Amino acid sequence: MDSAITLFRGDITKLKLDAIVNAANSTLLGGGGVDGAIHRAAGLELLEACRILKGCETGEAKITPGFQLPASFVIHTVGPVWHGGKYREKELLKQCYTNCLELALNKQLTSIAFPNISTGVYGFPKAQAAEIAISTVQEFLTKHGSVIEITFVLFDSENEILYKKLLDY
Ligand code: APR
Repeated sequence: MDSAITLFRGDITKLKLDAIVNAANSTLLGGGGVDGAIHRAAGLELLEACRILKGCETGEAKITPGFQLPASFVIHTVGPVWHGGKYREKELLKQCYTNCLELALNKQLTSIAFPNISTGVYGFPKAQAAEIAISTVQEFLTKHGSVIEITFVLFDSENEILYKKLLDY
């Protein structure tokens, strides 16, 4: 496994990194899942900061401070809702990872954590999503070198088994 990639089993809101990635919706005004957890932990200032961003397109990424989170920043991205795979879902999910990493690079961040974007409420099959996540991150590291330490956060055992298998952990 590339030394720049690590796995963390647990809650992304606990991580003291430069940035954690939020699997948001296009309003950026909070929700359930990891979005709800991040907003609860960050406090109301996060919602105010998100209001100013005026939403986010699927596949795009926007950044705010982390406020009361241990992480310095939150990079909000909007994953695709799974509709069976014939509506550019894989391409859009890949864009989420690429845009989050490019944004982190531009902000000169050196550590970032991702949840398994789109695999909860949005219904993207976890295994396919994990493959896209890992391959996109590995492409980025090949292109830019290990400039950013990347953590995949495994919130449940299904994700943990998947990522460990895909990364020959
Ligand atoms: N830390 C890390 N990962 C988490 C956490 C957490 N605290 N909570 C949930 N997850 C994991 C889920 O297990 C899943 O694998 O994050 C992944 C993404 O699931 P969701 O949070 O449901 O996100 P998503 O499927 O992208 O759906 C986004 O859900 O919460 C709403 O506002 C959000 O409308 C948006 C939609």
